[in-house]
Amino acid sequence: MKISRDDFDKYMFPCYKPMSMVLTHGKGAHLYDDLNNSYLDFTAGIAVNSLGHANKSVVKIIRKQCNKLIHASNIFVNDKTLTLAKKLCEKTGYEKAFFANSGAEANECALKLARRVAFDNVGEEKCEIISFLKGFHGRTLFSVSVGGQDKYSNGFGPKPQGITHLPFNDLESFKKTISDKTCAVMLELIQGEGGIIDIDPTFLQGVIELAQKHQALIIVDEVQTGVGRTGTFYAYEQFGFRPDILTSAKGLGAGLPIGAVLTSTEIAKHFGPGVHGTTFGGNPLACAVAAYVVDKVGDNKFLDKVVVKGNLLREGLEGINERLHCFKSLRGRGLLQGLELTGVLENKAALVQECCAQEKLLVLLAGSNVVRLAPPLIIRKKELAYGLELLESALAKALEKAKE
Ligand SMILES: Cc1ncc(COP(=O)(O)O)c(C=O)c1O
Repeated sequence: MKISRDDFDKYMFPCYKPMSMVLTHGKGAHLYDDLNNSYLDFTAGIAVNSLGHANKSVVKIIRKQCNKLIHASNIFVNDKTLTLAKKLCEKTGYEKAFFANSGAEANECALKLARRVAFDNVGEEKCEIISFLKGFHGRTLFSVSVGGQDKYSNGFGPKPQGITHLPFNDLESFKKTISDKTCAVMLELIQGEGGIIDIDPTFLQGVIELAQKHQALIIVDEVQTGVGRTGTFYAYEQFGFRPDILTSAKGLGAGLPIGAVLTSTEIAKHFGPGVHGTTFGGNPLACAVAAYVVDKVGDNKFLDKVVVKGNLLREGLEGINERLHCFKSLRGRGLLQGLELTGVLENKAALVQECCAQEKLLVLLAGSNVVRLAPPLIIRKKELAYGLELLESALAKALEKAKE
């Protein structure tokens, strides 16, 4: 069947605005379109393809598992789901895992869980959730309402109640708001969709102490920052604490849809049989791949390389800025970097993205003023260096266009 980009407009919901090319395949850190153009991929499917495209081991595991068991539902348990749960718990020190199909679903589960814990232990008055402006937690009605961007949650009728959004990194407003009625605080350690905004460690410390004082659970959303993206298996390790509830997705499946919620036995016990569930979550195919990802990415040698490559990327970006003076700030950690634009490029992240694509480099946006880079974790150093060259020439072109 002959297809083209126009078929998107003709046959698909218009809720995305995909770029002009039609992708057909990928290999490592490269993507190819139907005209056989090759692109260097600094998007990794929005921080998903942690091991790159068409990774040989991932393909082998998928093939093998497809010949054994793709799905059986949660009325049975299977060897691959159990293996993944055990590996994740052993890796992190958490005691219990729940598997979903996406980040939003993992967050939905975490939020429901926090409310149920408070309901069981205290009563229905302890139901308030604190989250942060510019935070992003997915698109189910609950997760999008906890997210801190009205533009995503308005216009869908009544929202779930009891959610307060506060400015990120502002401890004073948090101090004034948290109370014994707060059941959970949900946050990202680097706000991803909101513009790659790093958490202030002093703010985080204050949040942890106050949450403990008021017996509110801390839910950390590591859907984007998790699974090696920032140089440790989970980013929380860099802040010296372990969240009460952790959510993970994206890179965990290396391209297969999976979400995970990790917590303690004490918290998980509030989800007894029938309280929460999913048909596809924890299916053996996604779990078989994710178990491999935990071993591969969780290996210290692999993580050390992510740190080295993250530093190279940051140094390269600083070099570009010395020459072009187009970034107001560089943010993020490891292989998740945000370039805040300034001068004539202010609020022109989409133009930069377009110019990058013309140079055959694919990059992400995080709002109108931040270009986000999230290459596959397996990217080679020389590919990173080449990507930086492409980025520099794209920025130079964008600067010219923006002046026109
Ligand atoms: C921090 C964070 N949480 C949740 C989500 C939602 O994940 P999904 O799109 O898999 O539902 C995202 C997606 O970008 C995210 O970045």
